[in-house]
Amino acid sequence: MNDLRQTPAWRELGVLGAEIGRARVDSMFAHDPQRAERFTLSAAGITLDYSKQRVDPAVMAALGRLAEQQRFHDARRSLFAGEAINNSEGRAAWHIALRRPNDAPLHDGVHEVRAAMAEFVDDVRRGRWLGYTGAPISDVVNIGIGGSDLGPRLVCDSLAQLRQRIHCHFVANVDPADLDDILIRMDPERTLFIVTSKSFGTAETLANAEVARQWLLDNGATEADISKHFVAVSTNKDAVREFGIERMFGFWDWVGGRFSLWSAVGISIALGLGMDVFEEMLAGAHAMDNHFETAPLEQNLPATLALVGIWNNNFLGLPTHVVVPYAQRLAALPAFLQQLEMESNGKSVTRDGAPTQVETVPTVWGSVGTNAQHAFFQMLHQGVLAADVDFVLPLSAAGSADDERERQRVANCLAQAEALMRGRDTKALVAELTAEGLSGTALEKRLAARRFDGNRPSSMLLMDRLDARTLGALLAAYEHKVFVQGVVWNINSFDQWGVELGKTMAGQLLGELEERVGAVDHDGSTDALLARIRQGWKS
Ligand code: F6P
Repeated sequence: MNDLRQTPAWRELGVLGAEIGRARVDSMFAHDPQRAERFTLSAAGITLDYSKQRVDPAVMAALGRLAEQQRFHDARRSLFAGEAINNSEGRAAWHIALRRPNDAPLHDGVHEVRAAMAEFVDDVRRGRWLGYTGAPISDVVNIGIGGSDLGPRLVCDSLAQLRQRIHCHFVANVDPADLDDILIRMDPERTLFIVTSKSFGTAETLANAEVARQWLLDNGATEADISKHFVAVSTNKDAVREFGIERMFGFWDWVGGRFSLWSAVGISIALGLGMDVFEEMLAGAHAMDNHFETAPLEQNLPATLALVGIWNNNFLGLPTHVVVPYAQRLAALPAFLQQLEMESNGKSVTRDGAPTQVETVPTVWGSVGTNAQHAFFQMLHQGVLAADVDFVLPLSAAGSADDERERQRVANCLAQAEALMRGRDTKALVAELTAEGLSGTALEKRLAARRFDGNRPSSMLLMDRLDARTLGALLAAYEHKVFVQGVVWNINSFDQWGVELGKTMAGQLLGELEERVGAVDHDGSTDALLARIRQGWKS
């Protein structure tokens, strides 16, 4: 059946959504002393408490039936078996195979690449890999964008306390300021560039890599020295060779860009933090894979994350999902999840090419706590548009529990989640305003501005600690969440055709700006903007 809305499980959830829309979560806690325990799951160092969500046992059971109806079990088996679940490109999406342990049967050279990476990383970190003047490498600059940037950048930031000797930097943007600001701090004799691109055809990455190469040549290196300062991570051997890079770490078309940090795309993690740290991260992800593969639906952490998201989005009508990590080192998590969730599930046709008929991915955004409290939390508490929030709270982030700021970090996170649920108690507020001497209309007005109802849903994801293993598990949990949502919505989470048109048009416009190609028939707005830009460049 093509129209998901007409299926039994969807209809049942529609009825439950209308009913529960009026119920308050704080009274659900009052009626069910087991609620927190009932709606908490743990796996691989991650604890998910979703008891502040507007769900009850009937809703969770109906969501389970929806997943069953959409053949969750078959889909999960296909994912783990490496079947071609990316049907528009005829490929597997087999990132789970990258994090299987070294003694498990590995595929397509995964083992060989991991061993080559380990050897190279060891050479660089021990100072055996030398730059063109014989100096050891001190800085690594990863040039890549999207999935070839966000994952390694997030992990290097998150575990920065483990950094030894080698500093990793990340350049993604084609805006010259991005690379220029880094080059100005680099010593050409000691800098290693990693050009990371699955396709090795991404215009921004290649343009930045060319500038980096020229910078080396301008600083005394010769063409023959380039191989000492450039390595590539790609699936496209020929393009890498054509660019003039000799050393390449490969991966495979069955690894999607946004799922690729577990492959050689993560080499900057290993260079900056150590191969053991990279392998710990794989082990954490593998532990989450094992849980996801074997746990029954009702105890399955990633599947629960997915189903609660579907409930909020499709049945409670919350179009936006906010991620707030309460740890400075996890500041890059929202950007990572934006690509993971929205590039994967921002689709409006089903796997069979029919319109989806239902909302797919919500808008995903967020920022680090406590900073976000002083930016957009006002809207989360009192705005018209209600959102669903994931709080991500590592139990130990940077400091020790003896540090008052560390206690503040935790207290603020818990406080925001509780405030979203409870809102501002009207009786207490009236008493407060009366004590301030207000009454009558003045009190009413002030009351209206200050009160808020709460009942706004959030989940708490506790990380036992902020280490490589637990981080690997967290990211794998989100990957599986995205997969389960794609299965329920019956969309292909593993292609991204929507980004292609803009790339092609950018190529044409670049040609026009450089006066290499004739103008095509643009819309009036683009023509006018082009004229203004040309004028601006002239003056
Ligand atoms: O433009 C989207 C995209 O294709 C992403 O899916 C990918 O992660 C990114 O570009 C970079 O692609 P590549 O690794 O091939 O340079």
